[in-house]
Amino acid sequence: MKWVYMAPDFVPLNEAKVDIRTHGFSYGTLVFEGIRGYWDDESQQVYIFRLKEHFERLTRNGRILKYEMSTTPDGLVEICRELVRKNGYQQDIYVKPIGYKGLPDTLGVTLTQAPDEFLMYTFPLGKFLATDRALKVCVSSWHRVPDNAIPARGKIGGAYINSALAKSDAVAAGFDECIMLTSQGNVAEGSTSNLFLVTGGGLVTPPVTEDILVGITRQTIMEIASTELGLSVTERVVNRSELYMADELFFCGTGAEVAGIGEVDSRRIGSGQIGPITRQLQDLYFQVVHGRLPNYRSWCTPVYE
Ligand SMILES: Cc1ncc(COP(=O)(O)O)c(C=O)c1O
Repeated sequence: MKWVYMAPDFVPLNEAKVDIRTHGFSYGTLVFEGIRGYWDDESQQVYIFRLKEHFERLTRNGRILKYEMSTTPDGLVEICRELVRKNGYQQDIYVKPIGYKGLPDTLGVTLTQAPDEFLMYTFPLGKFLATDRALKVCVSSWHRVPDNAIPARGKIGGAYINSALAKSDAVAAGFDECIMLTSQGNVAEGSTSNLFLVTGGGLVTPPVTEDILVGITRQTIMEIASTELGLSVTERVVNRSELYMADELFFCGTGAEVAGIGEVDSRRIGSGQIGPITRQLQDLYFQVVHGRLPNYRSWCTPVYE
């Protein structure tokens, strides 16, 4: 039997029901997280990556929706560990916590007319984007949703219509993924991942003010790139044409991990294969998330005692 958490209880998956009148279901009024846990055979352990940081972000993002998280990030960490233990996973997993607006008192979109509810579930997950080959991507004709429409940094359920439109059209046109621009025409991010350029031997990535989700993987990459590889990391506005001229490009995210890009809008990037710096970062990232580098072990929360 699989278990999920529906605050304040753990319940069997087939008994976990949400009322069809739920505000969050009608309007996408919810904040969520996507978290990965990695199975390490050697230590017989699931390590959940940067777990507390995800719950801290969820708690902060909730403020945009006037959503009050009733459990502290530390409390959520323990609930999450317990949930994974109850399911007994011995493989790579994904954890999805959702803070949502519940049953409203009457018709309306007001954020305060429905109670704040919380649930969390987990399931096995392998690759989300290919990481063993270079991706073919396009620049999407769908702009990233602007901060004064629906804040992209909020990881708000309804905002993912924007990602869904962009990704679906990219896949239907034969691409693996897309790169989204801001409504000003600058580079923002992938449909569900952040983006880095390798240029002049250093990393460049759009700043947090460019309608991106402020990724935890993005921050991880920035830190390991400068600490472990001595690379310069610059956050600045990026024009579309810079994509075509970059030495390397890669996406990063909890789901995406570190995924190299070989082609944008049918223009080859570098050799068209995963670039050498991207490869180094991929290798480092996979060692870090599996708890194999002592300096970063504190980012990996073990599930089993
Ligand atoms: C739109 C978007 N950008 C970027 C990311 C990457 O964020 P993180 O590294 O925190 O998973 C995600 C989620 O994975 C996302 O949905």
